[in-house]
Amino acid sequence: MKVLVVGSGGREHALLWKAAESPLVEKLYAAPGNAGMAALAELVPWSGDVEVLADWALEAGIDLTLVGPEAPLVEGIADAFLERGLRIFGPTQKAAMIEGSKAFAKALMERYGIPTARHRTFQDPILALEYLEEVGVPIVIKDSGLAAGKGVTVAFDLHTAKQAVVNILNRAEGGEVVMEEYLEGEEVTVLALTDGEEVLPLLPSQDHKRLLDGDQGPMTGGMGAVAPYPMDPETLGRVEEEILWPLIRGLKAEGVVYRGVVYAGLMLTQEGPKVLEFNARFGDPEAQAILPLLQSDLVDLALKVAEGRLKGTRLAWKAGASACVVLAAPGYPESPRKGIPLYVPEPPEGVLVFHAGTRREGGHLVSAGGRVLNVVGLGKDLGDALERAYAFVPQIAFPGAVYRKDIGRKALAHLSTGAGPGEASRRP
Ligand SMILES: Nc1ncnc2c1ncn2[C@@H]1O[C@H](COP(=O)(O)OP(=O)(O)O)[C@@H](O)[C@H]1O
Ligand SMILES: [Mg+2]
Repeated sequence: MKVLVVGSGGREHALLWKAAESPLVEKLYAAPGNAGMAALAELVPWSGDVEVLADWALEAGIDLTLVGPEAPLVEGIADAFLERGLRIFGPTQKAAMIEGSKAFAKALMERYGIPTARHRTFQDPILALEYLEEVGVPIVIKDSGLAAGKGVTVAFDLHTAKQAVVNILNRAEGGEVVMEEYLEGEEVTVLALTDGEEVLPLLPSQDHKRLLDGDQGPMTGGMGAVAPYPMDPETLGRVEEEILWPLIRGLKAEGVVYRGVVYAGLMLTQEGPKVLEFNARFGDPEAQAILPLLQSDLVDLALKVAEGRLKGTRLAWKAGASACVVLAAPGYPESPRKGIPLYVPEPPEGVLVFHAGTRREGGHLVSAGGRVLNVVGLGKDLGDALERAYAFVPQIAFPGAVYRKDIGRKALAHLSTGAGPGEASRRP
């Protein structure tokens, strides 16, 4: 089979690496890919136009396409492929609205009783600011549309909150703001494969969204992830029953068949798991941590999802744990420096390196984006996985690299006390 992976980040390199294991695969392509992905696949230059890529895929006889990032999904890449009779792993434009419009997602959650922060949606700045005065802080202000992880402000003072509202609503093209209740707890990610009928959760994981150790500094695309996140079975059961199934059934009831992976960004609160947001694709860097633990054939699973044949499927996982440490360029997230020469030695057993913003310049590997490399350690347990990842990081030559030294610390603390945060929150 000819398989195409769409995207150019660490998540897509991980998808490609996992797909490459499959005996079903005869040839791999990546559009547009990165320097690391070039070792596994033929890179297809791509400007980002979904119709152009669909035409190319038809011409090239691509049998299955896996979509990494949200932007092409929200632009309707799945619709473009389906119209041409091509198989694709990724939701249609309508289904991807769960990520493309936070206002849509909140309204959907409300309709189906999915636990989430109380919220209001506004398009009118006057009404929005009035509401803000009324409810006060702390409050969370969200740009309803796609904002590449830069659309959310957690405000603890009114000035910051007002500024955020004004920034979103006073744009020429108009905007929509979601204002929601501030939730306290620990943040975790649960991904699930779904063909619109069946829901198959993957291992729980935890991202590290802030730039600096101790969850300080600015928000980023994600600085590292661990899997499996130690979540007690009761909490995980609630995530399935109260969140994932109602979402997929709710969409179906409204005529929307969701096929792909659904991302539930959750806060584990005193009252149980609540949704911060849904995404319409794998998380980055969660995918880099989760996929190496998956025993099952990813291509076979993606085919079943794309064809609506997921029912009766069981996932097999490798034992142990995994940890991903992201190496970002100096200046990330504001203004990452590009063109930094990189040297990545061959990783030892139990370590994987997934590329993100890298490219070849005259035969040399250089940085070409904010997040540049992902070092993944695989071990018998989380401590072992972290040790392997952190032992390899200093062997990479990447002057000025920015990375967190405390990936997995929260998860490790739960493991050492034997209680996940779900368990802690159930105690009176
Ligand atoms: N209701 C909330 N209470 C507390 N923190 C929140 C809330 N909503 C979002 N956040 C924080 O803001 C981050 C970004 O919000 P999210 O809804 O995931 O938007 P996006 O990923 O599109 O930027 C979350 O990862 C979380 O840390
Ligand atoms: Mg998010």
